[in-house]
Amino acid sequence: MPQIKAINHVAIVVEDMAKPLAFWRDALGLELHELRDVPAEKSQIAFLPVGNGEVELVRPTSDDSGIAKYLAKRGQGMHHFCLEVDDIEGMMSQLKAKNIRLINEEPRTSADGKKYAFIHPESTGGVLVELYQL
Ligand code: CO
Repeated sequence: MPQIKAINHVAIVVEDMAKPLAFWRDALGLELHELRDVPAEKSQIAFLPVGNGEVELVRPTSDDSGIAKYLAKRGQGMHHFCLEVDDIEGMMSQLKAKNIRLINEEPRTSADGKKYAFIHPESTGGVLVELYQL
């Protein structure tokens, strides 16, 4: 059986990076570990480690991206919650078998080789959930 290993990160959608970094990095003192563009998602992401997990800031870089539409509709705030799983394909099959609504039918692969997929908030209690396999 596929197993959930950890909470990997919590992501916050932001309009720009400067103001949230003034809080998360400068005021709380978290380290900005990574700041990069993700052309496939038309977004820029920042990662700030917190213990074994991370805070992710996500900013749209194009008005027609999924993130930009989300921001226009719901404003800044909590965007998704990410769980690390040891077998993402196995977990996605298990979820499908239990009629959980998935956003991605197949896992996607990030530039650094992580597999990820999203689960629809309709099935999770209102929160977009990401699965990660490192
Ligand atoms: Co994420």
